[in-house]
Amino acid sequence: MVRLELSSKSVKSVAADAVVLGAVRSPGTGRSAPVLLGVDDLPRATRSALSQALADLGADGAAGAVHLLPRVAGVAAPLVAVVGLGEQPADAEALRRAAGAAVRALAGRRRVALALPAGDAAAAGALAEGAALGAYAFTRYKAADRAPVEQVVLLVDKPRDKAVRAALERARALGAAVAVARDLVNTAPGDLAPADLADAAQELARGTSVQVRVLTEAELADGGYGGILGVGQGSSRPPRLVVVEHAPKGAKAHLALVGKGITFDSGGLSLKPPAGMETMKSDMSGAAAVLAAVRAVADLDLPVRVTGWLAVAENMPSGTAIRPSDVLTMHGGTTVEVLNTDAEGRLVMADALVAATAEQPDRVVDVATLTGAQVVALGNRVSAVMANDDAFRDDVLAAAERAGEQFWPMPLPEELRPSLDSQVADLANIGDRAGGMLVAGLFLREFVGRRADGSPVPWAHLDVAGPAFLTSEPHGYTHRGGTGVAVRTLVALAEDLAR
Ligand code: BES
Ligand code: MN
Ligand code: ZN
Repeated sequence: MVRLELSSKSVKSVAADAVVLGAVRSPGTGRSAPVLLGVDDLPRATRSALSQALADLGADGAAGAVHLLPRVAGVAAPLVAVVGLGEQPADAEALRRAAGAAVRALAGRRRVALALPAGDAAAAGALAEGAALGAYAFTRYKAADRAPVEQVVLLVDKPRDKAVRAALERARALGAAVAVARDLVNTAPGDLAPADLADAAQELARGTSVQVRVLTEAELADGGYGGILGVGQGSSRPPRLVVVEHAPKGAKAHLALVGKGITFDSGGLSLKPPAGMETMKSDMSGAAAVLAAVRAVADLDLPVRVTGWLAVAENMPSGTAIRPSDVLTMHGGTTVEVLNTDAEGRLVMADALVAATAEQPDRVVDVATLTGAQVVALGNRVSAVMANDDAFRDDVLAAAERAGEQFWPMPLPEELRPSLDSQVADLANIGDRAGGMLVAGLFLREFVGRRADGSPVPWAHLDVAGPAFLTSEPHGYTHRGGTGVAVRTLVALAEDLAR
């Protein structure tokens, strides 16, 4: 994990392997030289040399573009990196992305100073967060071509300011948590059986306030968790339900989080084609996000009880696998006819949602790489939010917006619900193909528990199938592979409930 520091040193003299400046598009249309920010204390000659160099390179301040300028006279650091911030004014997410892009481009350097606009604590926090997220590499199976930046120095006016320091602490916690989620997703599925994911949860909780409870196969059988058991029964490596909890004294509210933890999704007997399986080690991204978010909430010591439920199984075809037309009895007694074993996420999530809402939390959010239909609808950068409560859906969207994660509201149309009716059981696990993401959401809705007055627990469902795993070019603070999507939104939501 990168070391984040604050300093009031100047761009001129700061000791670093590289110093990062920001450039914004100059007002007006057309491609023209960008405007450099934060260069007031540089000599006039240095400023004009920088501007000339950027003009020669054809730089225009476009968001995310990074230009490297070696040996700039008047700057002590041997390298100046200029990162585009796009149009002014740059919002928090523009700052995160710029810091992330710069730190990614500077991999291989040890110490980097960021002279980007950190006007207040929020801006400083955004820069620190982007830098922390950008300084990542997954090195379990091979060394990084260029090691991630080790130290980031944020140049600010008031390095002792309380709010700035708190923002830096928060960025550290979020950066570490997202890295945990990314590492788990990037781990080869052969090295991450359900029991290994449970072990990772125990490991991550050690020495923190987080309590962990792991239900093994026998305990799942005792508890009637037919969904998790049914999906897991085709694998030689048995399933788990992992409960992780931060429960501080005087908690203001109770938030339940439920994560899909399919350590590998082959489709089961409804086998996926090879291309469709290539990224399916990422099918535990929801569970990874929930686990990481609980750890971050504990690190930040938020006064809110957060219970994370990781529904963990490996979906494999074998002589012991569930068959299309098998009927499972979920935790709580609902029967489900399995017509397609590749619609397994909703089966494990159903059990966990019932268990999570039986505790009568104030809110429940589930996170799942649930449907290919999500990818078709919203692509690889925008996640979907569905909910049984419009106000809560808006709260989740607001938290995501603050966190800098792209989510978009999706409906749960009543007319699609009958397509999940089964001839032989309470429900079928597949319905109309059209609107597949919404049908999956409607399936999950059936398993959200009710209050004593009969009203359902306010619930939101995050389908992150596309954004969980990046196979195309890296961008901003996002690397190839597991992205850690939803971690920061879940933490932001916990912060809201803690207020
Ligand atoms: N894990 C997949 C969904 C998925 C697809 C995630 C692509 C990320 C990228 C899920 O278990 C699945 O296979 N869903 C099926 C459901 C269908 C059989 C109703 C799908 O979307 O095709
Ligand atoms: Mn599947
Ligand atoms: Zn799946």
